Amino acid sequence: MVARRAREVQISGIRKMFEAAPPRSINLGLGEPDFDPPTAVIEALCEAVHHGQNHYGPSAGIPALRERLAERYRDREPATDRENVLVTGSATEGLMATALALYDPGDEVLVPNPGFVLYAPHARLAGAVPVAYSLPRERGFLPDLEELERLVTPRSRAIVVNSPSNPTGAVFPKEIVDRLVAFADRHDLTIVSDEVYEEIVYDVPAVSFWGRTDRAVVVNSFSKMLATTGWRIGYVVAPRPLAVEINKIHYHIMACPPTPAQVAVLAGLASDRATRKMVEEFRQRRELVVRTLAKIPGLSTVPPAGAFYVFPRFSWPASSAEVAGALLARGLITTPGDAFGSLGASHLRLSFAASRDDLRRGLAILAETGRELEGGAAPEATPGPAPRRRAPAR
Ligand SMILES: Cc1ncc(COP(=O)(O)O)c(C=O)c1O
Repeated sequence: MVARRAREVQISGIRKMFEAAPPRSINLGLGEPDFDPPTAVIEALCEAVHHGQNHYGPSAGIPALRERLAERYRDREPATDRENVLVTGSATEGLMATALALYDPGDEVLVPNPGFVLYAPHARLAGAVPVAYSLPRERGFLPDLEELERLVTPRSRAIVVNSPSNPTGAVFPKEIVDRLVAFADRHDLTIVSDEVYEEIVYDVPAVSFWGRTDRAVVVNSFSKMLATTGWRIGYVVAPRPLAVEINKIHYHIMACPPTPAQVAVLAGLASDRATRKMVEEFRQRRELVVRTLAKIPGLSTVPPAGAFYVFPRFSWPASSAEVAGALLARGLITTPGDAFGSLGASHLRLSFAASRDDLRRGLAILAETGRELEGGAAPEATPGPAPRRRAPAR
């Protein structure tokens, strides 16, 4: 009845946890800031709607926003102009349009393991073959360039990178970025760089791929930076000939990005105060989470350098789905690490985009469940579906 691509693609494993959560669970599965967008951005949205900006716009985005975004990228590459920038209906759409513009059937695409849940399905939807490369925790979740050399073949078309990373929180140092650029050059690969968490860093700034090579496509979003996940607005920065091709696909997916949301995020680019405040709060929570996790026997954690996730490994005798299921039965939503690939086995993803109170209570449940699992208790089964609650995370 339906095409094979629809039969074969799956809804992300992250969403399944939400369907099964008991009411009033503590949610450390969220993939979005627990903040409202800055007031100026909300006001700009209302004003745009009230003043008639409710119509189709240019497919690549309104010129003022493209221009402003190009300006932001000029310190990375002085020649960046608005023709390099394409406003999209979220990073998700930007990633999909990029995949459809880049990959031919049978192409191989290197994707991170553990890595965000969209990259491999997008490659498959474009007819390509995802080939997982490791981000081992022993290396601080950074890629092993020697392994990449072993995985690359004449069919390899692109490598997808994500720093700061969902789910690990790792941020690639400049040396790794340089080595990845050299690797891509050597094998004639396009680098698809998902930089949606670039503003959310705690120790050192993230290193963008833009301006380091002319074979990078950067996908970005306002979702995390302005806490506007529900507005569905993002952008792609690409070499001009490729931007033209991605724009064609983007046009066929959504005609144009939402006009009022573009006006609003443009207003949001005038000041980064709200983003900085949000990151400061995340920083405090990161300390709280890392400190608390360190006291739980059976867990080992690499402190995240960016994004708002922590990805501890557990040594309890259970799978990550079983541990997440046992936590869920006690009212704590987390994400099983293997939702992000095989190297996420024996890991959990915890989001600290939740109040400090929820974090304390949630981590107490984790500690208690860990104690039981350490003592050899069989993990409890996941409860049956409960009524849908807050929006699922990514
Ligand atoms: C790494 C990563 N890329 C892309 C996205 C999608 O962002 P958007 O809301 O713009 O679709 C997310 C959302 O969680 C993400 O974590």
